[in-house]
Amino acid sequence: MVFELTSAEKVKMADEHYAVIKKFLEQSSGIVLGEGKQYLVKNRLSELVLKSGATSFAELVGLLQSDSFAAKRIKNAVIDAMTTNETFWFRDETQFMELKEKILPQLLKSKGLVKIWSAACSTGQEPYSISICAEALAKMGLSGNVQIVGTDISETVLADARNAVYSEMVVARGLESAAKANYFRVLPGGGYQLCPEIVRRVKFQQFNLLDSYVGLGRFDIIFCRNVLIYFSAEMKRDILQRMAGALEVGGYLFLSSTESMLTNVTEFESVRGGRVRYFKKVS
Ligand SMILES: C[S@@+](CC[C@H](N)C(=O)[O-])C[C@H]1O[C@@H](n2cnc3c(N)ncnc32)[C@H](O)[C@@H]1O
Repeated sequence: MVFELTSAEKVKMADEHYAVIKKFLEQSSGIVLGEGKQYLVKNRLSELVLKSGATSFAELVGLLQSDSFAAKRIKNAVIDAMTTNETFWFRDETQFMELKEKILPQLLKSKGLVKIWSAACSTGQEPYSISICAEALAKMGLSGNVQIVGTDISETVLADARNAVYSEMVVARGLESAAKANYFRVLPGGGYQLCPEIVRRVKFQQFNLLDSYVGLGRFDIIFCRNVLIYFSAEMKRDILQRMAGALEVGGYLFLSSTESMLTNVTEFESVRGGRVRYFKKVS
């Protein structure tokens, strides 16, 4: 049997092209590709090479090294294609239980206004899960406001997040049927629209974690989950320290349950609440 190669499979990528793409990704987004990830890059970028009108990785690499306006669009598309946007509702559920049952009630009582940053929020399930917790507390009569900022490097995922319409399959990942019934409206053409009471607390903004945090403001809680795993230890330390700078003293940082704090980052102490571990800014 003779297998025909698709056009994308025919696009050739030399080792020197891979080296340029690897360096570009690390410098522009912090993402470190391990050795031998050529297949991943080729898989994810071959379609892009063809769609951009180029016929080879050499042309794409030329654009990555240029400062032209056309190159900016391609650079964003490469970052988009190479980032992993996996997310779902109430991911690491015990963290949301701790937030709803302990942290938010305390902070709402002591401060009235609680500011939360969902850094690297992908298509919005993380900040909206936080907002669902805040809505449940508001319904129980807790006064005060919760403001949430969701940021991501990718405008594509942010467009989906702002749209707040999800497919049945996406809604099913992590949401109980009660939450689905309470907080979504089924659209006539298909899809689930998240209700305005949940959406209104969340503002989305394009933001690269490598950039300066000065203009972002200060927060009581930061969620930075499942993104630092793609960065070098040095970059991770730098980001954790700058996040400490963006947190109020006594504020909290959530990493994912499989991520750990670096020992040379001294601004946080570890907090254990039952099955959940998170970090408190102490200095
Ligand atoms: C795996 S998702 C995590 C989503 C969510 N935090 C969660 O845990 O479910 C990682 C997200 O990080 C974003 N990302 C990668 N590099 C970034 C950077 N330098 N600045 C901001 N966001 C970045 C990606 O676009 C992607 O949406």
